[in-house]
Amino acid sequence: MRVALIGTGYVGLTTGVTLAFLGHDVTCVDVDADRVAALSAGRLPFYEPWLPEMFALASERLRFASDSRCAVPGADVVFITVGTPPGADGQPDLTFLRTAACDIGSHVAGDFTVVVNKSTVPVGSGNWVEALMRDAFMARNGSRPKGTSFSVVSNPEFLREGSALHDSLYADRIVIGSDHPRSIAVMQELYRPLTEQTFTSPAFLPRPDSVHTVPLITTDLASAELVKYASNAFLSLKISFINEMAELAERVGGDISHVARAIGLDRRIGPRFLDAGIGWGGSCFGKDTCALLSMGAEYGVSLPIVAATREVNYRQRDRVIERLQSKLKILKGRSIALLGATFKAHTDDLRDSPALDIARRLAARGAWVRLHDPVAIGKAERELDGAGVACMDTVAAAADGADAIVLATEWPEYRDLPWSELAASMRTPLLFDGRNFLNEAKVRAAGFEYHGIGR
Ligand code: UDX
Repeated sequence: MRVALIGTGYVGLTTGVTLAFLGHDVTCVDVDADRVAALSAGRLPFYEPWLPEMFALASERLRFASDSRCAVPGADVVFITVGTPPGADGQPDLTFLRTAACDIGSHVAGDFTVVVNKSTVPVGSGNWVEALMRDAFMARNGSRPKGTSFSVVSNPEFLREGSALHDSLYADRIVIGSDHPRSIAVMQELYRPLTEQTFTSPAFLPRPDSVHTVPLITTDLASAELVKYASNAFLSLKISFINEMAELAERVGGDISHVARAIGLDRRIGPRFLDAGIGWGGSCFGKDTCALLSMGAEYGVSLPIVAATREVNYRQRDRVIERLQSKLKILKGRSIALLGATFKAHTDDLRDSPALDIARRLAARGAWVRLHDPVAIGKAERELDGAGVACMDTVAAAADGADAIVLATEWPEYRDLPWSELAASMRTPLLFDGRNFLNEAKVRAAGFEYHGIGR
C-alpha cells in the first residue's frame, strides 16, 4: 500500500520504518527541511535501539520529503504523527495537528484515503480533523469532495521509547477507532503482516515465543482516543501506587521489592510497572494525565485517581531532596553526583525527566550538581544551560570529592561501576539508588552507605 506520514518525530519515524519494513511504500514528510535532508542521507535525529538497523532494512521502500504534495495525493493511508506538546494550560497544543489536517485536506486526491490520527489528541479530535480537512478541500477545490473521499480514523500508539521497534513488531494490540467499514478494512489490510505475524523477523529482533498473532481491536473514534489516555493513566497509576506503598514500607521497615513481587504474582494485578523509584517521567505520562484532567474538567467529570497519581509521582522527586537533606543536613555547597539524565534507560529523551528536575532543584538549593549520562550528556548540557549544573563525561569525574551519589536512571553500565574506587574518591560515600537498581550487598561491601526507595 502507499503510505504517507506527516511528522518524523519519534512516533512518525518508528511507524514509517516499521511499515516500510513490512512491505509498504512509505513517504515521511516533515516541514523541517534540514531533518528531511539528514534522513534522506540516512542520518537519524534521535537515539533508539535497533532503529538504524531497521532503517537500513527498510530503506528501499522509505522516502522523505518536506512537501506533503509529494506524498498525500494518491496515498491509501496518511498518518498524522505530529507533536502535540503540552500547552500552558495543560491541554495539548494542537497547532501542528491543525496545520497537518489543513495540509492533507488541500492535497488529498484519489478514490479513497484513510487519514489516521496517531498523535495523542483529546477525545473528539478525529471529528475536528475531518472538519478541518473538508474545509481545506473546499477552499482549494471550490466544492465538496466528489470522486475523492476520505475518512479519519484513530489509531493510538503504545510504543515505549527504548523498545519502540520491538513494540511495533510484536504489539500487545492494535486499536482502530472508526465508524466507517471501508476505513477499517483498509487498516486491517495495512496491518495484516503484523496481526498475522507473517513477516520474517529481523535477526536482531527475534519474535518472542509467546507472540503468534496480534489482536486488532476495532471501536468507535471516541473510544479509541480514550484508550490511549486510559492506558497511560493506568500505567502511571501502577507506578504511583507502588511508590506510595514504598513510603509506607520504608516507615515500617519492610522491603517494597518483596511486596511488589508478591502482589505482582496475582495474575489480576500482574508483575510489570511495579518498580518503585523516583517516579515516572517522559513525554507521555505527565502530558496525558494532565490532558485527562483537563478533559474531565471540560466534561464535568472529576478524576481524583488521576490527580492523586500525579501528586504521588511528583512527590517522589521532592523526597530525594528531603532524604539528601536529612543525611547531609545542609545542601548548600555540597557536591552531589547525579547518575543518569534521561527519564529512563535506552533513550536520549529528557522530557519531564525526574533526573533533570532533581538536578535543577538541588542546584537551586545551592548544591554543586555534577551530572553524568552515557548517551544524552550533550543534550542535557544544552537543556540545563544556566541552571548551574556541571555535565561530566565520566562517572569518576562526577563522583570525585562528592558528598553523595544519586542514581537517577537505570543505565546498565551503572550496575558494574568500580564502586570501591568511587567510594574512595568521595568526601562521604553516601549512595541513593533512585531506581532500586544496584546490588545493595556489593555497593555496601565497596564502602557505601546505601539507601534505596522503600527498603
Ligand atoms: C509510555 C507507555 O509505556 C507507552 O505505551 C506510551 O505509548 C508512551 O508512554 P515511555 O514513556 O516510553 O512509554 O516509557 P515507559 O517505559 O512506560 O516508562 C515511563 C516512566 O515510568 C519512566 O520514567 C520509567 O522509569 C518509569 N517507570 C516504569 C517506573 O518508575 N516504574 C516502573 O515500574 C515502570
